[in-house]
Amino acid sequence: MGAAGATGLVLGAAGGATTYAATAAGPGTALSTVGSTGVPFHGPHQAGITQPLQARGHLVAFDLAPGAGRKEAAALMRRWSAAAELLMAGKPVGEADSGVALDAGPCSLTVTFGFGASFFGRTGLEARRPVELDPLPAFSSDRLDPARSNGDLWVQIGADDALVAFHALRTIQKEAGLAAKVRWQMNGFNRSPGATAHPMTARNLMGQVDGTGNPKPSDPDFDQRIFVPAGGTQPWMAGGSYAVVRRIRMLLDDWEKLPPARQEQVIGRRKADGAPLTGGTETTEMDLDKTGPNGRLVIPDNAHARISAPEQNGGAAMLRRPFSFHDGIGPDGTPDAGLLFIAWQADPLTGFVPVQRKLDRGDALSPFIRHEASGLFAVPGGPAEGEYVGQRLLE
Ligand code: HEM
Repeated sequence: MGAAGATGLVLGAAGGATTYAATAAGPGTALSTVGSTGVPFHGPHQAGITQPLQARGHLVAFDLAPGAGRKEAAALMRRWSAAAELLMAGKPVGEADSGVALDAGPCSLTVTFGFGASFFGRTGLEARRPVELDPLPAFSSDRLDPARSNGDLWVQIGADDALVAFHALRTIQKEAGLAAKVRWQMNGFNRSPGATAHPMTARNLMGQVDGTGNPKPSDPDFDQRIFVPAGGTQPWMAGGSYAVVRRIRMLLDDWEKLPPARQEQVIGRRKADGAPLTGGTETTEMDLDKTGPNGRLVIPDNAHARISAPEQNGGAAMLRRPFSFHDGIGPDGTPDAGLLFIAWQADPLTGFVPVQRKLDRGDALSPFIRHEASGLFAVPGGPAEGEYVGQRLLE
C-alpha cells in the first residue's frame, strides 16, 4: 500500500477524516492522532479500500442460516450498517454494548461488507448476480481448504487498535443474530502507526517492502481500475469493487535460508528500500530490459515483480491491501504465518486472474508460498446518508 500521510488521513475518494474528542478521558482531553482519526461510513465507495493499512484486521465470512432469504438478508444488512456507522464513529452500539472499546476513539476503524456468489441463490436474486462473481479458475499451485474459503457474506474489519477491531468483530457477530452464522474467520496485522520515523510502504513477514507498485488514487485511471462504473454489468454495483481474498502461507523456514541477495532476485527489488534491482529509489520504474555484465537480465525473467507488473499483463492491475497473519507454530515447528492477500479491482478478469495465471506458471516466489484459502466477493458502493450497504440490491 502507498504510504499514509503523516496525519494518518485517508487517501482516497472515500476521503475525509474526522477528529473525535476523548470520551472516558474526560471532556477537552484530546486523543492522540491514532485514536482520534475516524473514517466516514457514508460516501461513493465503502470504507476500507483506499484507506491506509490499519494495524489490526479481522476477516470474517458468514453463511445465511437455513431458511433465511432476501427479507432476512436485507434486515441483516440494515442492522450491520447501523452498527458499522456507530462503530466507525467510536460510539457504543446499543445498551448491550460490551464496553471493550469504551475508552478509545474510532482508531481509523473501517467495516466493509461484501456478497459471495452463493448469496444470490440463497436470496432468490440469481438474476442480479454479477458475472464478475463467476468462480475464480483453479490454479495448479492452489492448496485450498473449502471450509476456510468463500461464503455468502464477507466482512473486512480494520483498525489501528486491537481492542477496537475486536469490539467491531464481536458486534458484527452478535448483530448477525439468527440470520447468519460464521463460516470462517481470520486475524491479521500490519505495522502500527508511529512505529517508523516517517510513514512508508509496509513490510510483509518476508521482510520485503510490499505495495510499491500499487495503483495510486492520484492516477488518472485509478477509479476505472478499482471501482465498478455506473454503466457496469449490474447497476446496483456502481461505485463498488470486487475483493479477491487469499490466505497465503509463507514457508518462512525455507525463505529465511536464502541469502538476502537471492531473496532480492526472487522479487526483483532490493530488500532494504524496495528499489528495483536496476537502481534508483523505491519509486523508480523497473528497467525490465536492462542486462548486467554477464549478459543476463538484471531483474530475472521469473522475478515476482516482473511477472506481476501491469506492462507484462496487458495492463492488468489491482490494489493490494493485505494484512499479515500469524496463527501460531505448527506441530512441525514451522510458523503458520503469511499474508491475508486482499486485492481490489473493478473486474477480477482484468485484475487478479490474469496475473495469478502467470505467476502460477513460473514465479520465483511460488516455492516459498502456499495459497490455502480463497474467496471472491462483490463489495457494493458506499451507502448514501440514510441508506444501508447493499440496499440497491436488496430493497
Ligand atoms: C509486487 C510480494 C503475492 C501481485 C510485489 C512486491 C513484493 C510482493 C515484495 C514488490 C513490491 C510491490 O510492488 O509491491 C508478494 C508476496 C506474496 C505476493 C510475499 C505472497 C505471499 C501476490 C499475488 C499477486 C501479486 C497472489 C496477484 C495475483 C503483485 C503485483 C505487484 C506485486 C500486481 C506489483 C507489480 C508492479 O506493479 O510492478 N509482490 N506478493 N502478488 N505483486 Fe506480489
